[in-house]
This record gives sequence, structure tokens and C-alpha cells, in this order.
Amino acid sequence: MGRENRFPAIAVLPQGLEEEGCQELKALGAHDVQPRKRAAAFRADRSCFYRLHLQARLPFRLLREMARFDCRSRDELYDGIQRALNWEQWLHPSQSFRVDVTGSAPGLNHSHFCALQVKNALVDQQRDLWGERSSIDLEDPDLALHLHLNRGEALLSLDGSGSSLHRRGYRAAMGTAPLKENLAAGLIRLTGWDASGPLVDPCCGSATLLIEAATIALQQAPGLNRSFALEGWADFEPELWRQEQTRARQRRRRDVDLPPLIGFEQDPAIADQARANVAAAGLQGVISIVTGHFNQQHLPSGQGVLVCNPPYGERIGSKEDLEDLYSCLGDFAKQQASGWQLWLLSGNAELTRALRLKAERRIPINNGGIDCRWLHYSIR
Ligand SMILES: C[S@@+](CC[C@H](N)C(=O)[O-])C[C@H]1O[C@@H](n2cnc3c(N)ncnc32)[C@H](O)[C@@H]1O
Repeated sequence: MGRENRFPAIAVLPQGLEEEGCQELKALGAHDVQPRKRAAAFRADRSCFYRLHLQARLPFRLLREMARFDCRSRDELYDGIQRALNWEQWLHPSQSFRVDVTGSAPGLNHSHFCALQVKNALVDQQRDLWGERSSIDLEDPDLALHLHLNRGEALLSLDGSGSSLHRRGYRAAMGTAPLKENLAAGLIRLTGWDASGPLVDPCCGSATLLIEAATIALQQAPGLNRSFALEGWADFEPELWRQEQTRARQRRRRDVDLPPLIGFEQDPAIADQARANVAAAGLQGVISIVTGHFNQQHLPSGQGVLVCNPPYGERIGSKEDLEDLYSCLGDFAKQQASGWQLWLLSGNAELTRALRLKAERRIPINNGGIDCRWLHYSIR
């Protein structure tokens, strides 16, 4: 498809994974990809936009720009929204919607107030047209609107996923403090693990890192087991969508045997949840979950990669217990993992010192509002 069919769009990304996110967008066919803070700007035609929803692993959301207008007051916001789109086509009263607002404009500093103003503009117009209005659904709306206000300009976008893209549809069970799937996928990308050696998570929780790693290696698309808001858009093209679904399905590799992917989890109930998630992701036989303290386990032969998101106190565990745990993890790595790489997500530098290992790289990552480091160690 030609350049003229490409529209501007934004991928909302975890902070710290902007560069990785840009690479992924480019690899899937996006154009003019530019990193932004916690986001990437790009251009895509409709099939590429569909493909990104089905195949991109790193974004939280993909926003399609629909309109820009001057916005310096509440009245300009109200009028601008009513004129921004042919709402008769895009928002029928039978469809629910949600409005997210970022940024600010003169007299419009409150995102909640702005969202209400957008909602009022839309439902007032609906009442005039149909005598009835849409309901609001914050969790899983039919139409998810995104308004960004900046320097007197409003940018109205539609969120193609509705419910965040980190939801792949495989997580039946939550574990304790699970990583978001898109963040886990980005962390795995940063390790450079290429499926040539084993991958072990000694504190695997609900197995998010292992599941994302396996699906990356098998090219199993993350978006084939869920629905997306864009499927209800006025200009949705079912044929093009089906083509992209088929394309995504066909990429799944069936010709490879992955090296061992193993998770250790000491809490039997969480280990069961991890197994349930592995099964729901169709990865039985690919990932093994072993119940028990990692200390009691043996690593598979070969030189591999350890990935770990141990508890770090913000959400779980007391300080002394955690120091013991980190010290034990450091010993385990030195005794069993000579020649391996260790990547550990740390939210607490003091605890990480208890590992008694020297990090070679420290990549800042925001994990659900907690400032973390993805630390890389080569174990000698
Ligand atoms: C922060 S959670 C990991 C979350 C995981 N990344 C996920 O996405 O679900 C840490 C996990 O380590 C487990 N754990 C703590 N100490 C352990 C040990 N000594 N051996 C094995 N697992 C342990 C806890 O039960 C918990 O499930």
C-alpha cells in the first residue's frame, strides 16, 4: 500500500524499553518510527496497524491519530470534539466508550475534568441525534478514545486494543506481583537470549518471563487469543484483519525444538498457577515448572541464561529474609552457573548488594511505577 494510506500513530511503551519498542515496530513494517518518552511515534497503513495489534509484544497500547484541533478552553474542547469525527458513524449509542486524557491546555489542567468534557460533548450529540446515549465502560469499552493536550492543540486518537495489550489471553492465574507480559517480553529481548542455550528462572512466580521467552522463540503471536476494540471500528476491514491473523498464525514455528526452559517456584500454589498459565499459552512440554527452593535444584547442562524477578520488598517479603534470599541466589549462581549470564530485575539496590556479584550493565526500567534496574551479570 502506498505512503498516502499511512496514518500517524503512537505506541505506548514501558519506560526504559523505548528503543526496543522502536526496533520491534520497524521489524513489523511501521514507518518513520521515532522514540518518545514512554512511547514511539510511527506511521502505518491499516494492515500494518492490524499486524502490530496481533504481533507486537512490547506496547501497552497503539493509538491511531484521528484529528487535531486548536484547544485553548473548555468550549474549544467541547466544539472540537463534536467536529473531530463523524460520530454518527463512529459511536452508536449501543456502543460503550471510555476517554483517557494526557497533557494539559490553558484552563484545562485536570485530566478528569477534560475527560468529562469530552464525554459530555459526545453524549449531548448522541442525544440530539438518537435520543439516547452510550454508556461508559472503563475496563473493556467498545470505543477507547485518547485525548492528548499540548501547547493549545488537542490530538484525538483511538486506542485499537481497548483493554491493554499486555493482556495476551493466557494468564488465568496471577501469582504474586506478576510482571506485565509486555514488560517481560522487553526484558527478554534485552537479554539477547537466542534459544541456543537453556533459560532458567529461579523465582518464576506465574512464569511470565519464561512464557514470553518461549513465545518469542517460537514466533507465537501474542494477540491471537483475544479481541480488540478496533474490530468494532466504523472502518474495520474484516478481510484485511483475517489476512493478518492468518499471517500471524503462519509465523508460528513448528520446526524447532527449544532448549530447556525451566522455572523454580517454592510456593506450591503459585507453581500450580504457573503450570496453568503455561498450559493456557499452549506451551506444555516447552516450559517445565519445578516446585521447590531454587537452592535444591540443578541447572541443565550447557551454558544458558538465568532471568530473575525476585521479591524486592516494595510489595512482598521482609528485609532480613530478602537479604538471605539474595545472598543465597548469589551463591547458587556462583556454584552452579559458571559461564552463564544472569539478568535480574532489582527494585532495591541494597538487596542487590547481598548477591555479592558485580553488574556489567544496569538498565533503568519502570515496573508498575517502581524504578527498577535490569541488571546483567556474567557468572565466572
Ligand atoms: C516477584 S515474584 C516473581 C513474579 C514473576 N516474574 C511473575 O511474573 O509472575 C517472586 C517469586 O519468587 C518466589 N520465590 C521466593 N523465594 C524463592 C526461592 N527461594 N525459590 C524459589 N522461588 C522463590 C516467590 O514465591 C514468588 O512467586
